[in-house]
Amino acid sequence: MQFLRLKLSNWRNFSEVDISLASRMFLVGPNASGKSNLLDVFRFLRDIVKAGGGLKKAVIDRGGVSSLRCLAARRYSDIKVEVHAGEPSEPEDSPPWRYRIEFNQDNRKNPIIKREQLWKKEDEIVNRPNEDDMKDPQRLTQTYLEQVNMNQPFRDLVHFFESVQYLHLVPHIIREPERFMGKSGDPFGGDFLERLVSTPEKTRGARLRKIKEALCIAVPQFKELNLDRDIRGTPHLKALYEHWHPQGAWQNEKLFSDGTLRLLGFLWSLLDGEGPLLLEEPELSLHPGVVRLLARLIARIRRKKRRQVLISTHSSDLVADKGIGGDEVLVLNTTSEGTVAKVGKDVREICVLLESGMSVSEAVLPRTEPKNVQQLELFEG
Ligand SMILES: Nc1ncnc2c1ncn2[C@@H]1O[C@H](COP(=O)(O)OP(=O)(O)OP(=O)(O)O)[C@@H](O)[C@H]1O
Ligand SMILES: [Mg+2]
Repeated sequence: MQFLRLKLSNWRNFSEVDISLASRMFLVGPNASGKSNLLDVFRFLRDIVKAGGGLKKAVIDRGGVSSLRCLAARRYSDIKVEVHAGEPSEPEDSPPWRYRIEFNQDNRKNPIIKREQLWKKEDEIVNRPNEDDMKDPQRLTQTYLEQVNMNQPFRDLVHFFESVQYLHLVPHIIREPERFMGKSGDPFGGDFLERLVSTPEKTRGARLRKIKEALCIAVPQFKELNLDRDIRGTPHLKALYEHWHPQGAWQNEKLFSDGTLRLLGFLWSLLDGEGPLLLEEPELSLHPGVVRLLARLIARIRRKKRRQVLISTHSSDLVADKGIGGDEVLVLNTTSEGTVAKVGKDVREICVLLESGMSVSEAVLPRTEPKNVQQLELFEG
């Protein structure tokens, strides 16, 4: 299953969004145009359904309704999120699943559901507020998504939302697992080594072998990779580097370079899990020669695992591959009314340029450059 379409009203810096989503999608736009905010919608859905989650927590963790609601919206407007999900082969006008939530806040600033609807194909399974909600408005503080006694008819969709993974690895967090240990699901890598350890040995070995092969290509002198525990039981990644010494030199993750750690984490995450993977700027710390190959690598692994990958990026190298289609790029442009999000294939000029043989890097990225960017040259200390 994958997300097929996203509609938003008043979500963060977006007033209105209505976009189709491909299996692999690159989000491009200037700084602060809302790439991370858009990815956050899928994390929000996951946070509603995850254990210990729920709507209230998901909203409060994001600073409450007033920080979620678009500043360009009228003061009391509802926030609306709608997603369509199913197999990409399904006809666009009849998605297997459609979920919509509209919410606002009560006078104690708690999130309150204004509307919750869910369709399985043509059948409307949920439509709230219903009679029970009218009798007991307190019920509108919780979605049916998060309630096991209510979500049984659409558990598949709940599991799908639960399977969303977000990744924004920070090398120094991976290097200091003692400080960050125990933060399960930490997108910044706090539990990265623990996740490796908790993977069954055979699967872990097979994945590390594949990753080692990739690292041997991308990182000069890299030779071997394995996972060990030290005498205190703390897990460590160990790599053998070719060296003037005939046996080479073993190093643990504390000495790995930023790029080595990020590539390693990125490859592990592609192989780990089935649900949609949200990646923030995977190009960071990597050599452009390596970045240029990532799009194809993502496509290959994605096809094999049949998982959706949504990637925010600023890198022209990442989107230089001519295999990236207009349906796979989402362009964000800021306006005084909020950010406008458009899929490349829906913008005529982009289509013309792509059809003439240009890559997304050539056809789209120049459009995302801030106006008057040259003036930065005048900056003086
Ligand atoms: N409720 C809101 N209404 C309007 N704007 C908002 C709201 N919440 C956050 N923003 C704005 O969204 C912007 C941040 O967006 P985001 O972090 O998604 O950008 P980005 O495209 O990921 O940028 P970068 O490339 O720098 O990572 C900030 O300028 C912030 O002020
Ligand atoms: Mg961002």
